[in-house]
Amino acid sequence: MEQNRRDFLSGAAWMGVTAMAAGCMSAGKKLCNAVGAPMHGFRVAPMKQVRVGVIGVGARGLPAVHRISQIPGCTVTAISDINPDRLDKAQSVLKKLGRPAAKEWSRNGDTEAWKGLCDSDVCDVVYSVTPRPLHCPINVYAMDHGKHVLQEVPGAFSLDECWATVEAAERNRRHCMMLENCTYGEAEMLAFNLIHKGKLGEIVQAEVGYSHDQRNLQFNPSSRIAGVVDFWRLKRHMTRHGNYYPTHGLVPAGRCLDINRGDRFEYLVSVETKSASFEQFGRDNFPPSDWRHSAKMVKGDVNMSFLRTVNGKVLTLKHNVCTPAPYDRGNLYLGTRGIFRGINFHDDPAKDFTDGSPCRFGWEEKTGDNGAHLYFDLARTKAVREQYRHPFWKVAGEISKKVGGHGGMDFIMDLRWAYCLQNGLPLDTDVYDLATYSSIVELSERSVLARSAPIDFPDYTRGGWKTAHPFTVDEIDMGKFDFGTGVVSGSISS
Ligand SMILES: NC(=O)c1ccc[n+]([C@@H]2O[C@H](COP(=O)([O-])OP(=O)(O)OC[C@H]3O[C@@H](n4cnc5c(N)ncnc54)[C@H](O)[C@@H]3O)[C@@H](O)[C@H]2O)c1
Repeated sequence: MEQNRRDFLSGAAWMGVTAMAAGCMSAGKKLCNAVGAPMHGFRVAPMKQVRVGVIGVGARGLPAVHRISQIPGCTVTAISDINPDRLDKAQSVLKKLGRPAAKEWSRNGDTEAWKGLCDSDVCDVVYSVTPRPLHCPINVYAMDHGKHVLQEVPGAFSLDECWATVEAAERNRRHCMMLENCTYGEAEMLAFNLIHKGKLGEIVQAEVGYSHDQRNLQFNPSSRIAGVVDFWRLKRHMTRHGNYYPTHGLVPAGRCLDINRGDRFEYLVSVETKSASFEQFGRDNFPPSDWRHSAKMVKGDVNMSFLRTVNGKVLTLKHNVCTPAPYDRGNLYLGTRGIFRGINFHDDPAKDFTDGSPCRFGWEEKTGDNGAHLYFDLARTKAVREQYRHPFWKVAGEISKKVGGHGGMDFIMDLRWAYCLQNGLPLDTDVYDLATYSSIVELSERSVLARSAPIDFPDYTRGGWKTAHPFTVDEIDMGKFDFGTGVVSGSISS
């Protein structure tokens, strides 16, 4: 079997061949930790005050400023954006909340000025909400300059970027967590709770994904880089194959399947349909004089990947942003004793979750119950949901819905990393998770290009997954947060 890059690097280190291994030095710069000290369960001393620097205050970053500023013990002390209008908006969010103005970088449009934020001593944590090509450069630069990183999804875009991020975390002993908000969705956390309490028995298969009709968004984007309308998503469809946005369904499922904590993804196969819907949309909506009328796509409409774990579970992962279809993350889990099936809607998953229908599940009362009648009736569904609501949602659900952000899950996520940092706990997902889940971008493309051949996952943990502690159903002690006069409601309009 082909030796992966990490085996090679760590093997060299154990032999005492410090940093001389090819790939460990580049242009005289050390690229890896000589002993590759693993970071499972990594924690730092409790941070009473968490000072956050937000890079990118666009559609997603501005509401993040609003949310973070409302967490007791957290302050947005720095912001960076190349668009002065976005900086003004972020400062006005802080002003409305009665918070001090943040120190600014990049008002002059300098696309590298975010490095000044990372170099500075005004923040301890970088919260990165930038266009995707900047994710890995920010991961590495920020950690090399002593900052912990919270990175939007996906955390990196190639295996090289994944390794670079892992190595930066290890050599600097810094957190690098991916901000996968859907992991904290109410339905996802209910599934996690039921599965970890053994209600569905042993899970053998999961079906998750990202179905989001983005035809309009991709052909008429609002996002700008350096003042120019940026078609980077559409350009990806025009040039590359594979699933370039894998994490919304995948990370919650990974937690349910104990990925990197007792099991790990071994290989995937990926298959793609022909491309039809985007080209149709271009023809139907733009005149022949517009390049979008005849834009040719390389990526197929629907990408399906099948991931097999070392312990024999199979996860089906779908990516479809092309065809007319309701928003959906899948959330299907099949176990030896039962089933969980969720449907998510984009606008307000929490509201949909409470109305009784979108999430169904059931399990055998005795061996051999007829599976065809396994879903619990609505009364029992509601009772079970109440009983097994995840502790995060029990204690923080109401306040999170008030603050907003995808029905509250964004604030639950932010509260949780803040709680962990303030109390010196490991973060829920670590740099190995960021790398593992982000690897799908390259692995799925490689498989499609090789007629769906199986492609191995790198083991970023170097065997650490075998002994790492499984995820637990954990707590947030809300008694440790003093919300004073309460929170300011509503999502910030971007
Ligand atoms: N988790 C989720 O639910 C979710 C949803 C949407 C987007 N995202 C992710 O969030 C990220 C941002 O997406 P968005 O929709 O907010 O994009 P956006 O274009 O609205 O915002 C990006 C911001 O970054 C700024 N920027 C660009 N280059 C910069 C530079 N060199 N230095 C400083 N600032 C710079 C832009 O001016 C803009 O304000 C993406 O990675 C995307 O994948 C996540």
